[in-house]
Order: sequence, then C-alpha cells, then structure tokens
Amino acid sequence: MIKKIAVFASGSGSNFQGLIDGVTSGVITGATIKLLVSSSRTAYCLKRAQNNDIASQIVRAKDFADTDAFSDYLSALMARYQIDYIVLAGYLEILPAVFVSQFDKRIINIHPSLIPAFCGSGFYGRHVHDAVYRAGVKLSGATVHFVDGGVDTGEIIAQQAVRITAEDTVDTIAKKVLVIEHQLLPRVLNALVNDQIIFKGEHAFINHE
Ligand code: GRF
Repeated sequence: MIKKIAVFASGSGSNFQGLIDGVTSGVITGATIKLLVSSSRTAYCLKRAQNNDIASQIVRAKDFADTDAFSDYLSALMARYQIDYIVLAGYLEILPAVFVSQFDKRIINIHPSLIPAFCGSGFYGRHVHDAVYRAGVKLSGATVHFVDGGVDTGEIIAQQAVRITAEDTVDTIAKKVLVIEHQLLPRVLNALVNDQIIFKGEHAFINHE
C-alpha cells in the first residue's frame, strides 16, 4: 500500500518541495504527498502545493476555542485524507499532545541544528543560526527526529553536519544547513515509510546506515 503523507509547513516550503521532488525522482518510494497543512495564509508553501496539485488547508491554533478542539480538527483532517505519516517542516504551531499520541512514531520533524544543541523553546528559523554563529561552534547541521509531546525532544533518527568557517555569516550558515536539509529529509521519510527505522534500546537508527 502506498503510504499517504501530510506535510505541515508555514514558510517557503523548500523542504516540502524537496519531498515532492524526492517522490518524483524515486528517492522516496512507496509514498504519495496528499496534503499540505499551513498556519499561514500567505506562505509560499501554499503556492507549491497548488503548482503540484496537492490539497492544502490552513490550520491555526488561534482559530479554535481550545487545544481539544484544535486536536479534534487535526485528527478529523488526517482521517479525511487517510494520512499515514506526518512531516513537520517549519510549521509554526505546537501540536496538541493528544493528537501527537495518535500518530506515535508516525510524525517526524526537521530541525536546523545538531540536536541537542540549539534546540527547544525559542529555537526556530533564524534564531537557531544566529545562536550557532554567536556561539562560535565549528559544526552545525540538521536533525530529523520523531515528534513526541515535547519541543525537539523525540528520538533522533538521522543527522547531517556542515562545517562553519571564518567566512560564514548567519545567512551563509542558514543556506548551508538548508542544502543538507533537502538531502536528509527525503532520505529519512523514505526510510520511515519503508519500515527501515530500527530501535536499539530507546534510540532510533536508519537500518544499515
Ligand atoms: C527549515 O529550516 C526547517 O529545518 C525548519 O523550518 C525551516 C523550513 O524551511 N523546521 P522551508 O519552509 O522548508 O524552506
């Protein structure tokens, strides 16, 4: 059975595009991208969905009376599109815990640093790369992890690193990391939908990597 994917994004959607391209090129097999969920009405990711004939839906926590109503709406939306797996790629909302538990080990997130460095509350978008630059670290990168009830706390599945040199600025670090995000996320999604993620104790790995 082809697995149905929902991507949640609120920005440019370059990672969303990377997944669309991954399906087209065969980097991702056995999956189809069915739905884009966005918290922004104007983000470019919506245009990408339109260009690729993928359904999109605006879902913002503030439009619901409380977290339960937000959670119920998301659950019904996923059921309507028969979604098997969810990819978070810059969705600027915290998902309700009840909803997350319904998709245990079926939601992954991409974070633009090497977790556990530069992650958690407040570390999103440019804030991450700004903190990396100010710390003077010589390596940064991207992490794909399972999503649990916390912020950036689920099991790490895979990471890819970039070097930071004297020539780098916050902008060039952000660009370098984005390039590897576009390689890492399709690879991990392919492993997930094809049951190639294994657990050793409490730690997740891509099998044979
Ligand atoms: C990426 O840096 C991702 O790591 C983070 O949000 C950003 C989304 O960028 N979670 P894009 O919309 O995919 O271009």
